[in-house]
Amino acid sequence: MSNNLFNENILQGKVAFVTGGGTGITGGIARALAEHGAKVAITSRKTENLEPMKQLIKENGGECLAVAADVRDFAAVTNAIAQTIEHFGKIDIVVNGAAGNFLCQADELSSNGFGTVIDIDTKGTFNVCRAAFDELKKNQGQILNISATLHLAATPMQIHVSAAKAGVDAITRNLSVEWGRYGIRVNGIAPGPIEDTEGIKRLLPEHLKEKLTKKIPLRRFGRIKDIENAAVFLCSEAASYISGVTLVVDGGHWLTGTAFG
Ligand code: COA
Repeated sequence: MSNNLFNENILQGKVAFVTGGGTGITGGIARALAEHGAKVAITSRKTENLEPMKQLIKENGGECLAVAADVRDFAAVTNAIAQTIEHFGKIDIVVNGAAGNFLCQADELSSNGFGTVIDIDTKGTFNVCRAAFDELKKNQGQILNISATLHLAATPMQIHVSAAKAGVDAITRNLSVEWGRYGIRVNGIAPGPIEDTEGIKRLLPEHLKEKLTKKIPLRRFGRIKDIENAAVFLCSEAASYISGVTLVVDGGHWLTGTAFG
């Protein structure tokens, strides 16, 4: 029996284009959208990073297309979107999950290091939205941007990601205003600390995990499933009057101070 909370047909007939959809939180979102009836195209810089997720989605009875594209490259994004439309006939949902991250304090970060993350997270999100616009307009589609909570207060060693995700939130708000007239909804999700993600394994030192858990009002790290549920909800008709919102899914954590404090 499925352990899903929503009706498994809630996204039936929809086609989703998910960047960074091979692994981690966005991989979970791609799988969850497929489990709820959507056909899913997943993208990443390298196709080999997409194959395990493509197989998993297929084993679960879903349909999945894997397309390589670096979101920094507008021509590559346009091509990946065209391939998806050719394969599935349309796109209704765009999920911008491709992101770059590493820990680095501001006085050691190079200009190119800062710009690289801005290019992937912020410009990459704009590139995909822009390239998908005609298709989303045609289908009264929607966009889901994956943000973070790092910039809601201030997170040391994350100035690049914080600036990049603040830009992503601005894109969510702006496009919801500019493209709402076409019936396009634009929302975001800001995950807090989510266990079993590469980000937490790589970026959060072991000794800070227990300290952090005590700071989270709900006293646990989030799970990828928590983000999947928010994504399925926001992508479904249940959220048909919600636009311009970045939904924080963090157990109340950001209200208590900095992400690693
Ligand atoms: N600390 C400081 N600077 C770093 C860095 C680190 N750990 N990693 C990359 N940079 C800097 C590089 O030094 C370079 O700047 P420079 O030219 O001034 O030296 C700049 O960022 C670009 O690095 P490069 O490796 O050429 O870029 P890339 O496009 O190949 O990859 C990332 C950039 C961010 C994607 C890369 O760091 C990466 O692969 N990260 C792991 C994957 C990831 O982030 N997944 C998301 C999990 S949340």
